[in-house]
Amino acid sequence: MHIKQVKDDIYRLSVNIEDKDYLFEGIWPIPHGISINGYLIKGEKNVMIDLTQDIFNFPQEFTNQLGGATLSIEDIDILVVNHMEPDHSGWLREFCKKNSKAVIYCTKKAIPLLQAFADVAADRAIAITDGQILEVGDYELQFFETPNIHWPETMMTYERKRNILFACDAFGSYGSIDENAIFDDQLSSEKHKFFEEEALRYYANIVATFSPFVLKGLTKLGGLDIKVICPSHGIIWRDDPSVIIEHYKRYAEYAKGPAEREVTVVWSSMYGNTKQVLNMVIETIRKRNIPVHVFQVPGDEIGYILASAWKSAGLIFGMPTYEYKMFPPMAHVVEELQVKKVTNKKVFRFGSYGWVGGAQKDFEKKTEKSGWDKLGSYEWQGAPTEEDQAAMQKALEEFCDALIEFTK
Ligand code: FEO
Repeated sequence: MHIKQVKDDIYRLSVNIEDKDYLFEGIWPIPHGISINGYLIKGEKNVMIDLTQDIFNFPQEFTNQLGGATLSIEDIDILVVNHMEPDHSGWLREFCKKNSKAVIYCTKKAIPLLQAFADVAADRAIAITDGQILEVGDYELQFFETPNIHWPETMMTYERKRNILFACDAFGSYGSIDENAIFDDQLSSEKHKFFEEEALRYYANIVATFSPFVLKGLTKLGGLDIKVICPSHGIIWRDDPSVIIEHYKRYAEYAKGPAEREVTVVWSSMYGNTKQVLNMVIETIRKRNIPVHVFQVPGDEIGYILASAWKSAGLIFGMPTYEYKMFPPMAHVVEELQVKKVTNKKVFRFGSYGWVGGAQKDFEKKTEKSGWDKLGSYEWQGAPTEEDQAAMQKALEEFCDALIEFTK
């Protein structure tokens, strides 16, 4: 990729992770890739805002792109580190070895991380104060602490004269960027839809746990006249940044509930007895005009299940009993949803058991602190009878009634 002008002497440097086997954060599949963006302000003093991960040939790519602005690493005078997660700071160790003069601006909490992650001494860094303004030639940078969007040390940088927010993880998305379409106004409606879906999955995977902090951050930044958002993952919003701000607000508010009037069904089956009711479950909900998203485990990726569950006001788990407990792959999903604070949901569970039950008891115990309103469950021994199907359908109708009421 090439360096791209954002406005005046502000430029975007960027790389895409496009290895389909690569797991972001070591967990999350990114079949459509992800971009990692840094930003350069070229001027009296040259400023870099965020770096790149030290994987593939990314440091060399960033170095080459700097060359596109006729600069080298040694020409950078100020390095703004908004966030120390290694996707943005992995190159820091080598960067600071090659450039011994650049002063680092970061939060106080980031300073020990400079040492821990990159062996960069604290005396190279200046701890910002919240709201501090740094004048650099024709540019005025203002720093805002935005803890837990995404780590406790995270901040954002706002260029006051041009109203540009360098938001790091906030307002980001999965999805590789075409270098000829890096701005929101350069995207087709299909591409906008693509990035909206990738933004939701990115949010659910990476940011969701910290949703109360996202809402605090949005309030804090609410007084700024933001004309451009430059995130560290995803496209740049210069035509209408309110689009991504509203998406993030909506995603964060899903944590408080209710989310959308949709149902995510996650199911497992060992020998097909739990699966036998699946069509009835789906049809019963669809007949109430409620969209249904269906995932099978093992098989479907947790990253996708999380995004769907985050957006859905209703969750249904279908799993058999396995050695007196929940079927293990499903137990993992149930746990992961709680780790990510998928809460304030209407929930139903069903499943078959063999010689004795146990999954429901295990499910109840392991979701005691989930914040889920468990509206019902249905279990049967072996294969479901017609009576089982009818009784369960009745219970699901009641689940739908409650869900509709919840999302009015
Ligand atoms: Fe993109 Fe939290 O790092």
